[in-house]
Amino acid sequence: MSFGPISDSAIIKDAESLPPFPRVVDKVIPLLHSLAPMSEVEQVVQYDPVIAARVLRVARSPYYGGSRVKTLRDAVIFLGQRTLCETILAACSMGYFKDLDAYNGTSAHRVWQHSIAVAVMSQTLATRLALRTALANFMAGLLHDFGKMVLNSYLRPHKEAFAQALASGLSMRQTEEMILGTDHAIVGGIIASSWKLPNVVIASIRHHHAPEEGGEFRRNAAVVCAADVIAMQAGYGYEGEWHTEKNHQWVLDDLKITPEGLAALVKQVKQAVKGAMTSFGENPANSAKTFSDLRGMPRS
Ligand SMILES: [Fe+2]
Ligand SMILES: [Fe+2]
Repeated sequence: MSFGPISDSAIIKDAESLPPFPRVVDKVIPLLHSLAPMSEVEQVVQYDPVIAARVLRVARSPYYGGSRVKTLRDAVIFLGQRTLCETILAACSMGYFKDLDAYNGTSAHRVWQHSIAVAVMSQTLATRLALRTALANFMAGLLHDFGKMVLNSYLRPHKEAFAQALASGLSMRQTEEMILGTDHAIVGGIIASSWKLPNVVIASIRHHHAPEEGGEFRRNAAVVCAADVIAMQAGYGYEGEWHTEKNHQWVLDDLKITPEGLAALVKQVKQAVKGAMTSFGENPANSAKTFSDLRGMPRS
């Protein structure tokens, strides 16, 4: 049963009808490639009052401990370039996810939280593996499931078929493929490419469920894939995604993550997400459910 395939141009058109990704990101992306001076970073941020306010709030939050931070310049210097870029990207994506409908019974807030968990973990793993793309990996982690947001409207009329397919044991991607003739990783890659994001980000999103197909970016895609599994083990997953955890254990082995190392990473991601939630004024109690809690969630 397929109602697709959906054309690339339809996907791009739909992506364009979503709230525009804040322009500040266009200016931040070059920072992924070069070490621009702090004054330049400050200049970018100051012209976006919403993002500037969030940067200040994050710097002053108990998690980062910048109680003496008074001005944007203080915040920029206090956070440092990398944390600042991460904060900007997370703040931009927050508005994005929150403006969207629930995804097949999963709140947009939960998808955002999952995305933050995967972003933080992608960056941690990239640093551990000495990849020189940690910030790009953070961005790929943040946007890895973004394709789902675009597929949402296509899937809405097929809610029952979707739930049945998942219940029959198909993975989320197989279900999307069966119903629409495409899946969220492909769609996410198309959107990332239409936004002219760096190739490493596009490939990591496109191949986050099949890193072995990632060519020269195989390792970056594996990082996002492993981060996805670790985020789920930390309780930041959502209904319909547990095939990811089951099918991608091999990636953890590939990246030489031992069971002890995994436990430490799970703890780390929990702390980081709690910190991020508090920094962004969210209620951290409204967060992690265990994997089995999620499995028991009713499908709506
Ligand atoms: Fe995914
Ligand atoms: Fe995911």
